[in-house]
Amino acid sequence: MIRAIAIRCGFVVVLSSSFLILFSTGSASFGAPRTPQAADTSKAWVAPDRATIPAGPMGDNIRLGLHVFNETPKYAERYVGNKMSCTHCHVSGGTVSKGIPMVGLPGIFPMYRDREKTVITFEERIEQCFQRSEFGHRLPNDSPEMVGLVAYSQWLSKDQVTGRPFPGRGLVTLPELNGDAARGSQIYTQQCTICHGEEGAGKTPDIPALWGPGAYSDGAGMDQIAKMAAFVQHNMPQNAPDTLTPQEAYDVAAYVHGKPHSVFNIKDHQ
Ligand code: HEC
Ligand code: HEC
Repeated sequence: MIRAIAIRCGFVVVLSSSFLILFSTGSASFGAPRTPQAADTSKAWVAPDRATIPAGPMGDNIRLGLHVFNETPKYAERYVGNKMSCTHCHVSGGTVSKGIPMVGLPGIFPMYRDREKTVITFEERIEQCFQRSEFGHRLPNDSPEMVGLVAYSQWLSKDQVTGRPFPGRGLVTLPELNGDAARGSQIYTQQCTICHGEEGAGKTPDIPALWGPGAYSDGAGMDQIAKMAAFVQHNMPQNAPDTLTPQEAYDVAAYVHGKPHSVFNIKDHQ
């Protein structure tokens, strides 16, 4: 296989401060004949151009959803309890393969979930991230914010086959390893402090907090070391993704996991 060129599809997300961050997707490889593999096609997927969001009420909902996704504490303030936006974990507006993308999701929900031992809708899954990742509250299905988020995800998914998961769904699969927080502390100082800060507070709104009151709660998926390791290995450091070994990703995830996180108690988050 020839890895001729790695293109980085720029997807510029305008954040509420005055500067732009050019987010990047994973690399896409072209070249020699290759066996068609589902995982590869997702890397070549390019998010639809925002200029193609239609005019009219449907377009207005999609645009609102885009704003809620990229600046959640600002556009969905009453449902958020920390400083996290969806795009902080669902990279580049939910458009990056193995950066927990939103692509294709509306067409595969409702689905059975082990945690709840029941079938949940797409809206219910969104609510869970509001409760746990955003340390906030459920929002009504007919609220403009929820309608916007669903419309935005549907717009991202317009070329996807209903019922079939997007090949780049979720996170990369890493081997199961044990993280060493002491080694992780060194990695953090060398490779993460520059953006996320010594105290893990980030620089809101552009760079998310990793611990403390602004960050995800201990009930969030990101609080699981294996999940964070998979996220970090493929998406961080943001300026050099895919450079940490799986072991290093586990180590730094173990370090961040050991820092204080808001305690999640579901009864306080209805
Ligand atoms: C702190 C990180 C974080 C934040 C913030 C966050 N999420 Fe998530 N989200 C996750 C993780 C981790 C998963 C589980 C990914 C996995 O297991 O593959 C997830 C899963 C999801 C899923 C299901 C994805 C799938 O493939 O089934 C949806 C839908 C979702 N989040 C929506 C949202 C929305 C909308 C927001 C903003 C209101 C949001 N999330 C904010 C971390 C986050
Ligand atoms: C160049 C700046 C930069 C560096 C360096 C960096 N990050 Fe990030 N990080 C970001 C940004 C910006 C986001 C939001 C997602 C995105 O846009 O890619 C983020 C998101 C995250 C998230 C998910 C959101 C959250 O707050 O829970 C985690 C976890 C994370 N980074 C961990 C790390 C770790 C661990 C390192 C060091 C190995 C690291 N980052 C290095 C900028 C950076």
